[in-house]
Amino acid sequence: MIVFHKIVELQNALFDDRKAGKTVGLVPTMGALHGGHASLVRKSVEDNDITVVSVFVNPTQFNDPKDLKTYPRTIEKDCKLLEEINADYVFAPSVEEMYPVPDNRHFEYPPVSTVMEGAHRPGHFNGVCQVVSRLFYIVRPDRAYFGEKDWQQIAVIKAMVKALSLNVTIVECPIVRDADGLARSSRNALLSEQERAIAPNIFKALSSSVEYSKSHNVKETHDYVVDTINAVDGLDVEYFEIVDGDTLLPVADWADSDYVVGCITVYCGSKPVRLIDHIKYKEPKL
Ligand code: PAF
Repeated sequence: MIVFHKIVELQNALFDDRKAGKTVGLVPTMGALHGGHASLVRKSVEDNDITVVSVFVNPTQFNDPKDLKTYPRTIEKDCKLLEEINADYVFAPSVEEMYPVPDNRHFEYPPVSTVMEGAHRPGHFNGVCQVVSRLFYIVRPDRAYFGEKDWQQIAVIKAMVKALSLNVTIVECPIVRDADGLARSSRNALLSEQERAIAPNIFKALSSSVEYSKSHNVKETHDYVVDTINAVDGLDVEYFEIVDGDTLLPVADWADSDYVVGCITVYCGSKPVRLIDHIKYKEPKL
């Protein structure tokens, strides 16, 4: 495994790989890697000749400077894991390398980029699109791998790929959970022992709401989830929206769509740590 800090050096290596007819998979990350990231890397290694993993805490997608400062950074541990799971290249640039001049491009794909996370974290998806599009231009991957935990992020990235006519296949990989149901996230590392103990109540409420939804309407199901989670001392729901899986717009009635997803953001503890998750009430028919 080779670790690159400079764009030109990574591009030279990839130029030779391409000349040799090799396919390239990209797994964009912000580091603090966990089992969810490992599943993306394993899938890319399976699908491609070369797997590039980018490790870059992207400042332009943080709308809260405190959040950027406290975001966990564990590059040595990350590289050890990536070596073990057979990643070929790690790309870990500095902020100056990624943004030699400020990125003034503006990405907006309403409604998918403007609802939910888009509304609660202004500028977040713009920053995600800035960095992901740069990574796509630098690496020119055949495939790029994203985790379903950030479900709305995948919808935004797909909208960007379509709008910019980028020649990359977006591969969506299933969410990875701990045994107690908590979705794996780099932010879990910020939870105290006590916060970690209450966090699984988020997925517990989401899971039980699937059964509940069979005999209750959308509004009742919404309130059931919010009330169940807010009843746990230390958990505070920021938003829970039950939306159409394609448009990401709220549904009023279960019959309104064949693909219905509940998306939630919860503050956990006193710092607090912001956790996101989702549940599918209706899956799209293949
Ligand atoms: O999902 C993430 O970790 C980040 O948003 C991404 C896609 C690596 C862009 O910085």
